[in-house]
Amino acid sequence: MKKQQNNELELKHTSVLTYNLDAYERGFRFIVNQGGSRSSKTYSICQLLVYLAINKKLTISIVRKSLPSLKNSVLKDLLEILKENKIYNENNHNKTENIYSFGNGSVIEFFSVDDEQKIRGRKRDILYCNEANELDFPEFNQLMLRTSGAVFLDYNPSDTEHWIYDVVLADEKSILVKSTYKDNPFLSKDQIEYIENLINVDVQFYRVYALGERPVSQTRIYTHFKKYVDEPASTNVVFGCDFGFNHPSVFIKVIEAGGKYYVQEQVYESKLTTADLIIKLNSLIPDQYRDKPIYCDYARPESIEELKRAGFNAIPADKAVKAGIDYVKSKEVFIHLDSVNLWKEVNLYSWKSKGNIITDEPIKLNDDGLDALRYALYSSKKSSGSGVWDYELVFA
Ligand SMILES: Nc1ncnc2c1ncn2[C@@H]1O[C@H](COP(=O)(O)OP(=O)(O)OP(=O)(O)O)[C@@H](O)[C@H]1O
Ligand SMILES: [Mg+2]
Repeated sequence: MKKQQNNELELKHTSVLTYNLDAYERGFRFIVNQGGSRSSKTYSICQLLVYLAINKKLTISIVRKSLPSLKNSVLKDLLEILKENKIYNENNHNKTENIYSFGNGSVIEFFSVDDEQKIRGRKRDILYCNEANELDFPEFNQLMLRTSGAVFLDYNPSDTEHWIYDVVLADEKSILVKSTYKDNPFLSKDQIEYIENLINVDVQFYRVYALGERPVSQTRIYTHFKKYVDEPASTNVVFGCDFGFNHPSVFIKVIEAGGKYYVQEQVYESKLTTADLIIKLNSLIPDQYRDKPIYCDYARPESIEELKRAGFNAIPADKAVKAGIDYVKSKEVFIHLDSVNLWKEVNLYSWKSKGNIITDEPIKLNDDGLDALRYALYSSKKSSGSGVWDYELVFA
């Protein structure tokens, strides 16, 4: 990292930061960071933005699709960098508005594209779209039009087709900075092993998340989910449950309203015993829903029995994988904006591939929440016979 005379900042950094700084100084409009998992894209761009904010007077916006995921990732990284470098001053941090102000008039603001006002709001000098492939092109376009200087993007190239490839990378003012975990010397041995082992999980997955390359054919399983915020007024409710221990135990709520399904994660936590889960369910499930079915993974009959003895309507789920996925795909499904773990799974959940052939078998990785979702939707269809849920109750 270069040093400036007045505002020195000695940052331990990776080559990804050097490439981004170089691209910025050369005046590229779009600096496109495509890479595998943990290649230091986000961390490096945050370091660079802090460095620029200190050395120039800039308005910088950091944007992601949803606010919870933004808070859990890039905002955390930026605050860590400020704190590690002893720059952080709580008085300069507006936690309600998610804006950090520097003494020299620079500001870094964080917002999600769901915030209509912000997306169409004031102009900025620099834009950083974190996990940019989550954004729709019109959303990106609105942001880009209000940005006078550089636009940074980062993403894992999990899509075969995308506006980033067709529009942004096709622009002569763009530069591609590619990176993989090998560019990040700060990873632990376990983290490296996890990424390298992806080759044994799935070749396409390895391509995207280890090598940072686009998949050769479409492997993403669910591409139709939409987000929602306000719960519909319907008492047509079922639950789905996937038991874990080292893996997370997941408990989700599904509301049906007008033939649409609204899914929300309520428990997503590792190291829970069934007794722990029961304590949580007692506070999560109100009395009116106490008799609603909880479709559970039948691989754990003892846990189902414990739930039943605790007064819940726990039922073994129909776990048919392909038919269940097809059923979920055929429905209009909304996932709550705050269900960040489910959204994360949606972005990773892919068909297994053999060479260049895509199979109809999902990769068994990061699928606990989506299994619970499938159990709830598919089993409730199967059990009522006539479509889902108690339509008689709704339409009586
Ligand atoms: N310069 C650095 N100094 C210390 N740690 C770093 C540095 N760069 C990266 N790391 C560590 O490596 C981890 C992974 O980096 P980062 O999250 O930026 O990767 P990424 O490329 O954005 O990954 P993903 O594609 O999964 O979002 C960080 O959480 C951080 O712990
Ligand atoms: Mg990242």
